[in-house]
Amino acid sequence: MTAHRVLAPVAGRPGLVGGALRPATPGDAAAIHALITKYQEAGRLLPRTVDEIARHADRFLVISDGGPESTDVLGCAELAPLSATVAEVRSLVVDESARGLGFGRLLAETLADEARLAGFRSICAFTHDASLFVRLGYSLVPHAWLPEKIAHDCAGCALFRACGQHAVRLELAEGWGSRA
Ligand SMILES: CC(C)(COP(=O)(O)OP(=O)(O)OC[C@H]1O[C@@H](n2cnc3c(N)ncnc32)[C@H](O)[C@@H]1OP(=O)(O)O)[C@@H](O)C(=O)NCCC(=O)NCCS
Repeated sequence: MTAHRVLAPVAGRPGLVGGALRPATPGDAAAIHALITKYQEAGRLLPRTVDEIARHADRFLVISDGGPESTDVLGCAELAPLSATVAEVRSLVVDESARGLGFGRLLAETLADEARLAGFRSICAFTHDASLFVRLGYSLVPHAWLPEKIAHDCAGCALFRACGQHAVRLELAEGWGSRA
């Protein structure tokens, strides 16, 4: 995935001051973990471990405070493959101090660009609040339309079939170019 990293969008976006979008490194794992943990309850985010994040650091994008060398992480999101054609956006979170500046949208849109370049046909997310994703062009879909996710995570989950999360999906081939 690293070869496809698309970092240009941050430069041209008005209002994106005080932060830089960059790929994560294993050295960011502790800061990413701290950010996810801080908002785990409020955002009902999946718990993650530092080890897991460090192992898959190349899947994460971060918004860092103060430029490419900074280790302060204001926002993060992960693109995790579920199959050869479907990827999932996970752990999308922006620190309260930096919300409303477009970082959440930037992280989600850049991951979608990366997914398309990497050859995925669609991306999905599971969330308790689908409104952000709907604003980004995703559609609400029945869970059964994402069998990759069910096989990957849901089947082993204690809340399988009693899950309060919404499934959202973005078709990269047809729908991405038409997002608002
Ligand atoms: C959701 C979250 C990532 C948004 O980050 P952000 O940087 O403030 O978002 P942006 O400023 O890029 O806003 C993006 C768009 O979503 C909208 N939006 C932002 N937060 C929203 C929310 N909680 N509910 C509905 N819409 C929201 C904005 O109005 C904006 O729309 P626009 O671009 O069409 O004007 C952030 O609030 C957060 O970290 N929440 C806790 C964790 C969480 O809930 N993660 C998502 C679940 S996977």
